[in-house]
Amino acid sequence: MRKKVIAGNWKMNKLVGEAEQFVEDVKESVPSSEKVESVVVAPFTHLHALVEKAKGTDLKIGAQNMHAEESGAFTGEVSPEMLKDIGVEYVVLGHSERRELFGETDESVNQKVHAAFKHNLVPIVCVGESDEQRENNQAETIVEDQVKKALKDLTNEQVQDVIIAYEPIWAIGTGKTATAEDANAMCTHIRNVVKAFAGDEAAQAVRIQYGGSVKPANVDEMLGQSDIDGALVGGASLKTDSFLALVEAGT
Ligand code: G3H
Repeated sequence: MRKKVIAGNWKMNKLVGEAEQFVEDVKESVPSSEKVESVVVAPFTHLHALVEKAKGTDLKIGAQNMHAEESGAFTGEVSPEMLKDIGVEYVVLGHSERRELFGETDESVNQKVHAAFKHNLVPIVCVGESDEQRENNQAETIVEDQVKKALKDLTNEQVQDVIIAYEPIWAIGTGKTATAEDANAMCTHIRNVVKAFAGDEAAQAVRIQYGGSVKPANVDEMLGQSDIDGALVGGASLKTDSFLALVEAGT
């Protein structure tokens, strides 16, 4: 039985004080981490304060990106070691906004996934097709390619511990959600892809989230699907009541 993981990706929203207040307001109400993993994925400037606020609770903190190298002349970048140093536990890698707007490639995502394992960070690896690719019936091959390249050269044991977030680009922030059946079909496909290169044990263990306009009104249907093990949520994770409803749905 795979434990569900609900991650709220705040993207470039909230100031530190607002973020701290959010964590203060939800931290005692988040369900036990034995039942569901509840993660807030916040901007770099907020991470230290949020880790401190969430200490001793069931709420976990994640970053939205990182560099693959440990240190060096990489102006403006943050290393995995720096994240680990302040107690961050998860890192989102290869979000479509980073691929589209900041030149993230499958290769750089793969380097970062390896770096995450080296520093004991749990990688949440995002994949997903565009509207045009779906219309051209390329969705499955595009996603398959992204998964294989992102997880290249990991051990089967490491693959088990990856979280894959399937986020069709056309469903992100648009209010257009994939149907639960379509989302599940892609997540099943991803699991089969993982099985082919990392074996059945890894495929059964790897957790696959759906992301794209998830909200309290549709999360139960998504999480009720056989191959959907959680959600990566943008807009609906910004308000405390909605975030709590989402993590509760994962129990
Ligand atoms: O990382 C989260 C996704 O991009 C989904 O965002 O829930 O606002 O559509 P959204």
